[in-house]
Amino acid sequence: MYRTHTCGELTKKEIKSQVKVCGWVHNRRDHGGLIFIDLRDRYGLTQLVFNPETCKELHKQAEKLRSEFVIQVEGEVSERPQGTQNPKLKTGEIEVLVKKLIILNESPTPPFEIEDNSAVHEELRLEYRFLDIRRPEMAKRIHFRHKITNIVRSYLDSQNFMEVETPCLTRSTPEGARDFLVPSRLNAGTFYALPQSPQLFKQLLMIGGMDRYFQIARCFRDEDLRADRQLEHTQIDMEMSFVTAEDVMAAVEGMVIRVFKEALNIDIKGPFERIPYNEVMNRFGSDKPDLRIKGREIQDITEIAKGSDFKVFKSVATSGGVIKGISVPKGAEFSRKEIDDLTAYTNGFGAKGLAWLKFTDAGWDSPIKKFMSDKTLEQIKEIFKPEAGSILFFVADEWLVATTALGALRNHLADKLGWREKGFCLSWTVDFPLVQWNEEEKRLDVLHHPFTSPAPEDVSLLKKEPLKVRAEAYDLVLNGTEIGGGSIRIHQEKIQELVFETIGIGREEAERKFSFLLKALKFGAPPHGGIALGLDRLCAILLGLDSIREVIAFPKTQKGVCPLTEAPAPVADSQLKELNIKVVK
Ligand code: AMO
Ligand code: AMP
Repeated sequence: MYRTHTCGELTKKEIKSQVKVCGWVHNRRDHGGLIFIDLRDRYGLTQLVFNPETCKELHKQAEKLRSEFVIQVEGEVSERPQGTQNPKLKTGEIEVLVKKLIILNESPTPPFEIEDNSAVHEELRLEYRFLDIRRPEMAKRIHFRHKITNIVRSYLDSQNFMEVETPCLTRSTPEGARDFLVPSRLNAGTFYALPQSPQLFKQLLMIGGMDRYFQIARCFRDEDLRADRQLEHTQIDMEMSFVTAEDVMAAVEGMVIRVFKEALNIDIKGPFERIPYNEVMNRFGSDKPDLRIKGREIQDITEIAKGSDFKVFKSVATSGGVIKGISVPKGAEFSRKEIDDLTAYTNGFGAKGLAWLKFTDAGWDSPIKKFMSDKTLEQIKEIFKPEAGSILFFVADEWLVATTALGALRNHLADKLGWREKGFCLSWTVDFPLVQWNEEEKRLDVLHHPFTSPAPEDVSLLKKEPLKVRAEAYDLVLNGTEIGGGSIRIHQEKIQELVFETIGIGREEAERKFSFLLKALKFGAPPHGGIALGLDRLCAILLGLDSIREVIAFPKTQKGVCPLTEAPAPVADSQLKELNIKVVK
């Protein structure tokens, strides 16, 4: 037997017991002849003492120990002398007086200290991820993630959900990203696609009568990476039959409330606020509002601006655009340079400019003040009710550009000025439009995936006014991040064809790509709906971390590279030949 206890469990209760423990040498301190070792495993730290007076030979052996050596020791548990206890550790009242030492393995000096908060470049951490996850804080994160999936599994099981695995070698499931393709050796010239999500299979499961499915599913999307995006991510994927959108949202709320309670001991109250898309955009300029920012919502001055002499405002307001703004308390102190920087930031989100009005005890101050009548200024004051010392920022543009740019500015100012309160804020965004105009490709695009059901009362608008059709879709938002998205699905072939048609997928293309779905829809498909939650994002936010890479054991860098395995990598010519593939340089 290697060990009787882990490094995280010995307490005063075991004093005088003979124990065996194993682990890594966390550090070594030599004090007045005694050698102290903090021995570490993922459960904690245990202090070992080597006393030359007990055994000279053993003490000599201990002198050879270096950081990250793996050792096994036998010894007696003893109370630490008064004043040397460490109340921060569970094992802080005891130490082990070593009687026998076996070095199980040696280690060169690691490239960074195995300590929390050691400032190491992420690339190096990922290259030596096996060392990085020895750090207690990383070990805790990985364990936390395990805990979340356990809570989710047991909750869903208690609600009659059944876990079913769906294939990874499959056909394309469109979720708006590029596919990862896998060449087939047995069928030359053909490819599998890795699933962007199990979407089509979970719908087929519902058609197969497997009501209430879930899966902790790996999804693959070839997209540009960011702090909250990886090439492969994990979804808590769910689907239910004979449900309304409210039923799905209620099931998810039950699960999320349980997760907060069991993982963080935080009581979250349901139901979460449901905010229609138009409202959420008008108020917060984002379909994923950070409700930790209280007030300071976007206001509309389009009607007022029609009467101003400021050319930009007037022309936008009279040609179908909008003028919206936000008020920033204490913003009257912003320098010219700060305002220019904020303008440049907002330009990044499509705004053509950022007009501003400062409001102080001395009245209004702004380069555009001269174009505003007293009446106009009075009306603006009425809407924003700015406290003295504020600045108002305005964007005049198409509705989506103006709201999005101001939403981005509002988030940016929240970071700059510390507007976000502590805690967790959850909400649902509902009543999304089914489609939006893709200016680049000059065609209509779905907002979610093409299997999302239009709101039944809007189906008649599909042909004539598709932009007015609402989707039966819902996104779950936590602290300004979309952590989940789902919808009621189309379960009737006719409507599925109509939606394909609306977004320019012709009959032939639909047959080629989704014939299996269209076939299945003919055979008694029940009404069904579901959702997927991003497990990586959920874990990161619950732990207050900025990047999902911190809760993934082996993530990839922003460039899609794994510094540890050096994937992706070239392969042998023979392998390519077998796959009938030629690489064109
Ligand atoms: P969606 O594409 O919204 O929906 O994905 C669901 C959730 O998965 C997370 N997510 C990601 N996390 C990390 N890296 C990524 N690249 C990434 N992409 C998505 C997000 C997101 O909310 N089939 C539908 C679900 C459904 O309709 O049931 C789907 O995949 O948190
Ligand atoms: P200009 O008339 O282009 O010199 O702009 C005068 C002010 O209006 C500047 O502060 C611009 O940033 C701002 N501005 C220009 N276009 C817009 C717009 N579309 N929305 C809001 N402000 C704008």
